[in-house]
Amino acid sequence: MDRPDQTTHFGFRDVPLGEKQTLVNEVFHSVAQRYDLMNDLMSVGLHRAWKDIMITALNPPKTDAPFALLDVAGGTGDIAFRAAKASGHGFRATVCDINTDMLEVGRNRASAQHLDDRVNFVEGNAEALAFPDRTFDGYTIAFGIRNVPQIDLALKEAYRVLRPGSRFLCLEFSTVDVPGLDAFYDFYSFNVIPALGRTVVGDAEAYRYLVESIRRFPPPHALAEMMRAAGFARVSFQRMSGGIVALHSGWRL
Ligand SMILES: C[S@@+](CC[C@H](N)C(=O)[O-])C[C@H]1O[C@@H](n2cnc3c(N)ncnc32)[C@H](O)[C@@H]1O
Repeated sequence: MDRPDQTTHFGFRDVPLGEKQTLVNEVFHSVAQRYDLMNDLMSVGLHRAWKDIMITALNPPKTDAPFALLDVAGGTGDIAFRAAKASGHGFRATVCDINTDMLEVGRNRASAQHLDDRVNFVEGNAEALAFPDRTFDGYTIAFGIRNVPQIDLALKEAYRVLRPGSRFLCLEFSTVDVPGLDAFYDFYSFNVIPALGRTVVGDAEAYRYLVESIRRFPPPHALAEMMRAAGFARVSFQRMSGGIVALHSGWRL
Protein backbone atom coordinates (compact mmCIF):
# COMPACT_ATOMS: atom_id res chain seq x y z
CA MET A 1 0.00 0.00 0.00
CA ASP A 2 1.42 3.40 -0.99
CA ARG A 3 1.52 5.89 1.90
CA PRO A 4 4.15 8.32 0.57
CA ASP A 5 3.35 11.34 2.76
CA GLN A 6 3.21 9.54 6.07
CA THR A 7 5.80 9.62 8.79
CA THR A 8 6.46 7.04 11.45
CA HIS A 9 9.02 6.69 14.20
CA PHE A 10 12.37 4.98 14.37
CA GLY A 11 12.96 4.83 18.10
CA PHE A 12 12.29 8.38 19.34
CA ARG A 13 12.95 9.94 15.91
CA ASP A 14 10.20 10.76 13.43
CA VAL A 15 11.14 9.49 9.97
CA PRO A 16 9.37 9.18 6.61
CA LEU A 17 7.47 5.89 6.49
CA GLY A 18 9.54 4.68 3.55
CA GLU A 19 12.82 5.08 5.48
CA LYS A 20 12.06 3.11 8.62
CA GLN A 21 12.66 -0.34 7.13
CA THR A 22 16.11 0.64 5.84
CA LEU A 23 17.09 1.91 9.30
CA VAL A 24 15.72 -1.23 10.98
CA ASN A 25 17.62 -3.40 8.51
CA GLU A 26 20.87 -1.58 9.38
CA VAL A 27 20.29 -2.32 13.08
CA PHE A 28 19.86 -6.06 12.53
CA HIS A 29 22.72 -6.19 10.03
CA SER A 30 24.93 -4.74 12.76
CA VAL A 31 23.78 -7.05 15.58
CA ALA A 32 23.13 -10.36 13.73
CA GLN A 33 26.31 -12.23 14.73
CA ARG A 34 25.91 -11.42 18.43
CA TYR A 35 22.10 -11.24 18.49
CA ASP A 36 21.51 -14.44 20.48
CA LEU A 37 24.24 -13.74 23.03
CA MET A 38 22.87 -10.22 23.55
CA ASN A 39 19.35 -11.58 24.13
CA ASP A 40 20.64 -13.75 26.95
CA LEU A 41 22.68 -10.93 28.48
CA MET A 42 20.02 -8.20 28.20
CA SER A 43 17.15 -10.28 29.50
CA VAL A 44 19.30 -12.27 31.95
CA GLY A 45 17.94 -15.37 30.23
CA LEU A 46 14.29 -14.40 30.70
CA HIS A 47 13.60 -14.35 26.94
CA ARG A 48 13.91 -18.15 27.01
CA ALA A 49 11.03 -18.46 29.50
CA TRP A 50 8.87 -15.95 27.57
CA LYS A 51 9.46 -17.87 24.33
CA ASP A 52 8.64 -21.19 26.01
CA ILE A 53 5.32 -19.73 27.19
CA MET A 54 4.59 -18.77 23.58
CA ILE A 55 5.33 -22.34 22.41
CA THR A 56 3.07 -23.76 25.14
CA ALA A 57 0.27 -21.49 23.86
CA LEU A 58 0.94 -22.56 20.27
CA ASN A 59 0.61 -26.17 21.40
CA PRO A 60 1.84 -27.85 18.19
CA PRO A 61 0.86 -31.54 17.88
CA LYS A 62 3.17 -34.07 19.53
CA THR A 63 1.99 -36.70 17.06
CA ASP A 64 2.81 -37.22 13.36
CA ALA A 65 -0.12 -34.97 12.41
CA PRO A 66 0.99 -32.30 9.92
CA PHE A 67 1.40 -28.79 11.30
CA ALA A 68 2.85 -25.86 9.33
CA LEU A 69 4.12 -22.90 11.36
CA LEU A 70 5.04 -19.53 9.90
CA ASP A 71 7.42 -17.63 12.18
CA VAL A 72 7.61 -14.08 10.86
CA ALA A 73 10.51 -11.77 11.75
CA GLY A 74 11.92 -15.08 12.92
CA GLY A 75 15.53 -13.88 12.71
CA THR A 76 17.96 -16.50 13.95
CA GLY A 77 15.23 -19.12 14.33
CA ASP A 78 14.71 -19.30 18.10
CA ILE A 79 10.92 -19.68 18.03
CA ALA A 80 10.94 -22.20 15.18
CA PHE A 81 13.58 -24.36 16.90
CA ARG A 82 11.71 -24.34 20.20
CA ALA A 83 8.46 -25.24 18.43
CA ALA A 84 10.16 -28.04 16.45
CA LYS A 85 11.59 -29.54 19.64
CA ALA A 86 8.14 -29.46 21.28
CA SER A 87 6.42 -31.18 18.31
CA GLY A 88 5.95 -34.50 16.59
CA HIS A 89 7.29 -35.58 13.18
CA GLY A 90 4.59 -33.78 11.19
CA PHE A 91 5.85 -30.35 12.25
CA ARG A 92 7.44 -27.99 9.73
CA ALA A 93 8.36 -24.34 10.26
CA THR A 94 9.08 -21.56 7.82
CA VAL A 95 11.11 -18.72 9.27
CA CYS A 96 10.47 -15.54 7.29
CA ASP A 97 12.63 -12.48 7.88
CA ILE A 98 13.59 -9.42 5.86
CA ASN A 99 17.24 -9.51 6.91
CA THR A 100 19.67 -11.87 5.16
CA ASP A 101 22.28 -11.58 7.95
CA MET A 102 19.82 -12.77 10.60
CA LEU A 103 18.65 -15.60 8.30
CA GLU A 104 22.24 -16.69 7.67
CA VAL A 105 22.87 -17.06 11.42
CA GLY A 106 19.56 -18.97 11.66
CA ARG A 107 20.48 -21.41 8.88
CA ASN A 108 23.80 -22.19 10.56
CA ARG A 109 22.07 -22.76 13.90
CA ALA A 110 19.51 -25.06 12.23
CA SER A 111 22.18 -27.29 10.75
CA ALA A 112 24.15 -27.32 14.04
CA GLN A 113 20.98 -28.54 15.78
CA HIS A 114 20.06 -31.00 12.97
CA LEU A 115 16.80 -29.18 12.40
CA ASP A 116 17.36 -28.11 8.80
CA ASP A 117 14.96 -30.76 7.47
CA ARG A 118 12.10 -29.32 9.61
CA VAL A 119 12.86 -25.60 9.64
CA ASN A 120 13.44 -23.60 6.46
CA PHE A 121 14.41 -19.95 6.12
CA VAL A 122 13.02 -17.52 3.56
CA GLU A 123 13.61 -13.83 3.00
CA GLY A 124 10.41 -11.81 3.04
CA ASN A 125 8.55 -8.79 4.35
CA ALA A 126 5.83 -9.23 7.00
CA GLU A 127 3.81 -6.55 5.20
CA ALA A 128 3.60 -8.52 1.93
CA LEU A 129 4.06 -12.25 2.47
CA ALA A 130 4.80 -14.40 -0.57
CA PHE A 131 2.56 -17.28 0.57
CA PRO A 132 -0.88 -18.27 -0.70
CA ASP A 133 -4.01 -17.61 1.36
CA ARG A 134 -4.82 -20.13 4.13
CA THR A 135 -1.46 -21.92 4.09
CA PHE A 136 -0.40 -22.15 7.75
CA ASP A 137 -1.69 -23.79 10.95
CA GLY A 138 0.01 -21.23 13.17
CA TYR A 139 1.66 -17.81 12.87
CA THR A 140 4.18 -16.55 15.43
CA ILE A 141 6.02 -13.24 15.61
CA ALA A 142 8.34 -12.66 18.57
CA PHE A 143 9.90 -9.27 19.25
CA GLY A 144 9.36 -8.55 15.58
CA ILE A 145 6.16 -6.61 14.98
CA ARG A 146 7.57 -3.53 16.73
CA ASN A 147 10.12 -3.25 13.92
CA VAL A 148 7.62 -3.49 11.07
CA PRO A 149 6.76 -0.02 9.70
CA GLN A 150 3.11 -0.80 8.89
CA ILE A 151 1.79 -3.08 11.62
CA ASP A 152 -1.75 -3.02 10.22
CA LEU A 153 -0.51 -4.54 6.94
CA ALA A 154 1.47 -7.23 8.78
CA LEU A 155 -1.65 -8.19 10.78
CA LYS A 156 -3.78 -8.40 7.62
CA GLU A 157 -1.17 -10.60 5.99
CA ALA A 158 -1.03 -12.83 9.07
CA TYR A 159 -4.78 -13.29 8.90
CA ARG A 160 -4.68 -13.99 5.15
CA VAL A 161 -2.08 -16.80 5.33
CA LEU A 162 -3.63 -18.59 8.33
CA ARG A 163 -6.05 -21.44 7.83
CA PRO A 164 -9.47 -20.95 9.45
CA GLY A 165 -9.34 -22.38 12.98
CA SER A 166 -5.70 -21.47 13.53
CA ARG A 167 -3.94 -19.10 15.85
CA PHE A 168 -1.88 -15.92 15.66
CA LEU A 169 0.58 -15.35 18.52
CA CYS A 170 2.65 -12.24 19.03
CA LEU A 171 5.25 -11.88 21.78
CA GLU A 172 6.32 -8.28 22.23
CA PHE A 173 7.70 -5.85 24.77
CA SER A 174 4.95 -4.03 26.58
CA THR A 175 4.27 -1.45 29.28
CA VAL A 176 5.73 -1.88 32.76
CA ASP A 177 3.25 -0.61 35.32
CA VAL A 178 4.53 -2.04 38.60
CA PRO A 179 5.65 0.77 40.97
CA GLY A 180 9.37 0.44 41.67
CA LEU A 181 9.94 -1.94 38.76
CA ASP A 182 9.20 0.89 36.29
CA ALA A 183 12.02 3.11 37.66
CA PHE A 184 14.48 0.22 37.70
CA TYR A 185 13.40 -0.82 34.20
CA ASP A 186 13.93 2.74 32.89
CA PHE A 187 17.40 2.93 34.38
CA TYR A 188 18.31 -0.52 33.08
CA SER A 189 16.90 0.19 29.60
CA PHE A 190 18.46 3.57 28.98
CA ASN A 191 21.82 2.99 30.71
CA VAL A 192 22.71 -0.69 31.02
CA ILE A 193 21.41 -1.99 27.66
CA PRO A 194 23.19 0.56 25.38
CA ALA A 195 26.40 0.01 27.41
CA LEU A 196 26.06 -3.75 26.90
CA GLY A 197 25.49 -3.12 23.18
CA ARG A 198 28.67 -1.05 23.01
CA THR A 199 30.73 -3.69 24.83
CA VAL A 200 29.39 -6.86 23.20
CA VAL A 201 28.41 -5.74 19.70
CA GLY A 202 30.38 -2.50 19.36
CA ASP A 203 27.11 -0.66 18.65
CA ALA A 204 25.35 1.26 21.43
CA GLU A 205 23.05 3.00 18.92
CA ALA A 206 21.46 -0.26 17.76
CA TYR A 207 20.45 -1.04 21.33
CA ARG A 208 19.32 2.53 21.99
CA TYR A 209 16.94 2.02 19.04
CA LEU A 210 15.73 -1.21 20.64
CA VAL A 211 14.94 0.50 23.93
CA GLU A 212 13.30 3.51 22.29
CA SER A 213 11.22 1.35 19.94
CA ILE A 214 9.82 -0.47 22.98
CA ARG A 215 8.63 2.85 24.44
CA ARG A 216 6.99 3.91 21.18
CA PHE A 217 5.16 0.60 20.68
CA PRO A 218 1.37 0.74 21.19
CA PRO A 219 0.09 -0.47 24.59
CA PRO A 220 -1.35 -3.99 24.61
CA HIS A 221 -5.03 -2.98 24.42
CA ALA A 222 -4.23 -0.85 21.31
CA LEU A 223 -2.48 -3.77 19.61
CA ALA A 224 -5.46 -5.96 20.52
CA GLU A 225 -7.73 -3.45 18.77
CA MET A 226 -5.53 -3.54 15.66
CA MET A 227 -5.73 -7.35 15.68
CA ARG A 228 -9.55 -7.17 15.80
CA ALA A 229 -9.50 -4.68 12.91
CA ALA A 230 -7.44 -7.19 10.89
CA GLY A 231 -10.17 -9.78 11.39
CA PHE A 232 -8.93 -11.81 14.36
CA ALA A 233 -11.44 -13.20 16.85
CA ARG A 234 -11.14 -14.16 20.53
CA VAL A 235 -8.34 -11.60 20.86
CA SER A 236 -6.58 -11.58 24.22
CA PHE A 237 -3.25 -10.78 25.81
CA GLN A 238 -1.32 -11.92 28.83
CA ARG A 239 1.22 -9.64 30.52
CA MET A 240 4.37 -11.27 31.85
CA SER A 241 7.17 -10.21 34.21
CA GLY A 242 5.39 -7.08 35.46
CA GLY A 243 4.41 -6.02 31.93
CA ILE A 244 7.92 -6.14 30.44
CA VAL A 245 6.43 -8.34 27.73
CA ALA A 246 2.95 -9.41 26.63
CA LEU A 247 1.80 -12.44 24.69
CA HIS A 248 -1.01 -11.52 22.29
CA SER A 249 -3.33 -14.12 20.85
CA GLY A 250 -6.01 -14.09 18.17
CA TRP A 251 -7.80 -16.70 16.08
CA ARG A 252 -8.76 -16.84 12.46
CA LEU A 253 -12.14 -18.50 12.68
C1 LIG B 1 14.35 -8.55 17.61
S1 LIG B 1 14.47 -9.58 16.18
C2 LIG B 1 13.47 -10.97 16.63
C3 LIG B 1 14.02 -12.29 16.14
C4 LIG B 1 13.32 -13.53 16.70
N1 LIG B 1 11.92 -13.52 16.42
C5 LIG B 1 13.55 -13.69 18.18
O1 LIG B 1 12.58 -13.61 18.94
O2 LIG B 1 14.68 -13.90 18.60
C6 LIG B 1 13.46 -8.72 15.04
C7 LIG B 1 13.53 -9.28 13.63
O3 LIG B 1 12.52 -8.61 12.84
C8 LIG B 1 13.00 -8.59 11.51
N2 LIG B 1 12.19 -7.66 10.72
C9 LIG B 1 12.16 -6.31 10.80
N3 LIG B 1 11.28 -5.80 9.91
C10 LIG B 1 10.73 -6.85 9.26
C11 LIG B 1 9.76 -6.97 8.22
N4 LIG B 1 9.17 -5.90 7.71
N5 LIG B 1 9.44 -8.20 7.80
C12 LIG B 1 10.04 -9.30 8.31
N6 LIG B 1 10.98 -9.26 9.27
C13 LIG B 1 11.33 -8.04 9.75
C14 LIG B 1 14.46 -8.20 11.69
O4 LIG B 1 15.21 -8.43 10.54
C15 LIG B 1 14.85 -9.04 12.89
O5 LIG B 1 15.40 -10.28 12.49
